[in-house]
Amino acid sequence: MAPAPASRIAVVTGASSGIGAATARQLAAAGYRVVLTARRKDRIEALAEEINGAGHQAAAYALDITDRAAVDEFATAFKTVGVLVNNAGGALGADPVASGDPEQWRQMYETNVIGTLNVTQALLPALTASGDGTVVVLSSTAGHGTYEGGGGYVAAKHAEHVLAETLRLEIVGTPVRVIEVAPGMVKTDEFALTRFGGDEEKAAKVYAGVAEPLTADDVADTISWAVTRPPHVNIDLLVVRPRAQASNSKVHREL
Ligand SMILES: NC(=O)c1ccc[n+]([C@@H]2O[C@H](COP(=O)([O-])OP(=O)(O)OC[C@H]3O[C@@H](n4cnc5c(N)ncnc54)[C@H](OP(=O)(O)O)[C@@H]3O)[C@@H](O)[C@H]2O)c1
Repeated sequence: MAPAPASRIAVVTGASSGIGAATARQLAAAGYRVVLTARRKDRIEALAEEINGAGHQAAAYALDITDRAAVDEFATAFKTVGVLVNNAGGALGADPVASGDPEQWRQMYETNVIGTLNVTQALLPALTASGDGTVVVLSSTAGHGTYEGGGGYVAAKHAEHVLAETLRLEIVGTPVRVIEVAPGMVKTDEFALTRFGGDEEKAAKVYAGVAEPLTADDVADTISWAVTRPPHVNIDLLVVRPRAQASNSKVHREL
């Protein structure tokens, strides 16, 4: 992996757990000064301490990406930003369309789509000013195909995919590229737990019998690889699934 110039800043949203935390560690190791954001301040501060203790550079900034005023305030801290990883997001519920909770649908749209929109809009001037900016959008294979019980999440991730595609069209000619990373099944500590409101049994069923779901590090590795390509190389879309998953609904389980 090519080392990043020491001055390059990488902002990672949702860095308090899972894929975001793993991405922050890997980008810091690649030479970026990472800025960790999430709502849980204690967790991102602990991670920043860990990264700095390993001889890399990190800072923590507590931020709710759905709070536009707070996001705008955050953005004033930066003249230039090299990389923005829009990772914060997730799923709520797995009910069919016929009985899904509209409030959960609204929240998923608010976090995954409007949150990504907020941070991207606020940091686009600093990404452009860097002369070589990269916006990463963590969508999902749920952004490319549906599955039963996935409706609200699938709709939000499709919208995130559209955000990435549209932005790439609109800013072509500026020194900013847009990369979408779309993972399939990733076993992280909190994703399924959050989806099922803390129900550990339901969360465990998501990964039941799957020999090797992707890990947060696997996905962080694909993100780090994509952002460390030479500036003229734009990985438009990177779909990554575990070998045991052939599609959103075709998963090999050894039960
Ligand atoms: N795990 C999977 O199977 C999978 C597959 C494909 C795509 N993805 C996507 O990958 C991303 C990360 O997933 P993950 O598995 O790492 O999940 P996770 O461990 O639940 O992480 C979600 C992160 O988002 C942050 N977040 C949530 N709402 C936020 C808000 N309003 N403002 C700021 N931060 C917020 C959380 O931090 P705080 O709670 O501290 O704010 C947390 O750091 C998500 O966008 C998810 O949809 C996951």
